[in-house]
Amino acid sequence: MTHDALIAAARRARENALAAFSQFKVGAALETADGTIVTGCNIENATYGLTLCAERVAMFKALSEGHRHFTRIAVVADTGEPTSPCGPCRQILWEFGGNLEVILANLQEEKGRYLMRDLLPLPFDARLLGGPKP
Ligand code: THU
Repeated sequence: MTHDALIAAARRARENALAAFSQFKVGAALETADGTIVTGCNIENATYGLTLCAERVAMFKALSEGHRHFTRIAVVADTGEPTSPCGPCRQILWEFGGNLEVILANLQEEKGRYLMRDLLPLPFDARLLGGPKP
């Protein structure tokens, strides 16, 4: 799949956002190693604090469907400046996605490409725990 097609999938996912409180809709499209695309949108609720970002929805959907290896994620919001993943999402994307390519875009154009290792330098992860216990 081309970068543009991945961005297009994130734009479509954004339309499903439940963003009644912030009005800030975000879409994400995560590509697995076998080429499957798993999308996500942000989901807000009345407590505000239980909000899930589009990136984590996409990653948790993918993990729950059995995917374990990932290559890229596209993130789309309606902003002039690139909307990049928040801190908690960077942690989750790093732990489960590794050094993903992160493609940021708005409704008109791509705004930049990054690697997760640059978005989350000096990460805390399972290596420091001696690896996950079975
Ligand atoms: N949000 C995302 O879904 N992803 C981001 O990368 C930035 C923020 C959501 C969370 C909340 O629903 C809204 O955008 C405003 O912060």
